[in-house]
Amino acid sequence: MPVVTFIEHDGTQHQVDADEGMSVMEVAMKYDVPGIDADCGGSAVCGTCHCFVESSGELSAVDPTEESMLGLRPDRESNSRLSCQLRVSESTGDMTVRLPEFQM
Ligand code: FES
Repeated sequence: MPVVTFIEHDGTQHQVDADEGMSVMEVAMKYDVPGIDADCGGSAVCGTCHCFVESSGELSAVDPTEESMLGLRPDRESNSRLSCQLRVSESTGDMTVRLPEFQM
């Protein structure tokens, strides 16, 4: 079972077991990890599940919908992703994601 480590903006860490097939956003919701709002419920249209992927195995590519939402984030970095679009799998393996100071 892959482990996802969430690092809040203040450095607080949450290390949780993730079921394969869940999105990183769904994992955060399941374990009440603060810092992800996910207003649209995972449809890639709100951008409030932004995270920074610090380490992982292989990730799916950013598709045009995700790209357009990430483009609206002034705090975007090269490792920015929408956590609702990242599925935990054998390929992704253990992941570490940092959360922004706030979602917008
Ligand atoms: Fe809305 Fe990810 S939950 S874009």
